[in-house]
Amino acid sequence: MKLSDHINNENLPKHLAIIMDGNGRWAKQKGMMRAFGHENGAKSVRMAVETCAKLGIENLTLYAFSSENWNRPKLEVDMLMKLLMKSLKSELKTLQENNIKLNCIGNLDMLPKGTKRELEDAIEKTKNNSRMTLTLALSYGSREELTSAVKQIATKVKNNIIVIDEVDESIINQHLYTHNLPDVDLLIRTSGEHRISNFLLWQIAYAELYFTDVLWPDFKEEDLFQAIISYQKRERRFGKTSEQIK
Ligand code: IPE
Ligand code: IPE
Ligand code: MG
Repeated sequence: MKLSDHINNENLPKHLAIIMDGNGRWAKQKGMMRAFGHENGAKSVRMAVETCAKLGIENLTLYAFSSENWNRPKLEVDMLMKLLMKSLKSELKTLQENNIKLNCIGNLDMLPKGTKRELEDAIEKTKNNSRMTLTLALSYGSREELTSAVKQIATKVKNNIIVIDEVDESIINQHLYTHNLPDVDLLIRTSGEHRISNFLLWQIAYAELYFTDVLWPDFKEEDLFQAIISYQKRERRFGKTSEQIK
């Protein structure tokens, strides 16, 4: 029996998010530059996107560049932006063929003009695709997202567009970058780090967490299957008792 045969198609995460970590260490282990790790990480991105679409996962969100990653050496940041632009260009066809809609969360105004243009072009061209939504978190920071939501809501209260008593979880949700996405069901982080690194803090409130030591460029289809199988074995209680769930 293949590993994928153990996956129950009726119990897939509706929203899978991945912190793709370990490109630099992967390259270092091979005595190569960090850039080599990022280039090979792009292959794992393609695999993850195609596999999730094939499985029938409706929402995949990939942490590609954090607001804190701007503090890396300029050479690496420039390289990552170039790689992103190149990948967007070359993968657009795959997105179209697989009926995948591209979405983006983060402070896109921080991105170089060319990268931003390429991104907006791909988002526009794939906007009617419906099989899966692929969200790239780019220049993304959860605290920044929440701060921006607070500012927008405060402005609306000040201008009498909403009253304070109306502010509830749903209003907050509507002002996040992820307003059109469901909560995260499964969050995977590769490379052995057990932390969240400012990713989707609000949206992972009840996500199942899955950590693996595998470095992102080594992350293969089987690793993704393992994560989903682990997710499907868990009992999600959302505060209730086990008896209430059954
Ligand atoms: C993840 O790999 C990719 C990005 C953060 C852009 P890293 O570049 O963080 O790799 P490590 O963690 O240094 O190994
Ligand atoms: C998190 O990885 C961001 C992305 C994967 C894009 P980092 O490698 O930047 O995380 P920290 O700084 O080690 O926590
Ligand atoms: Mg890292």
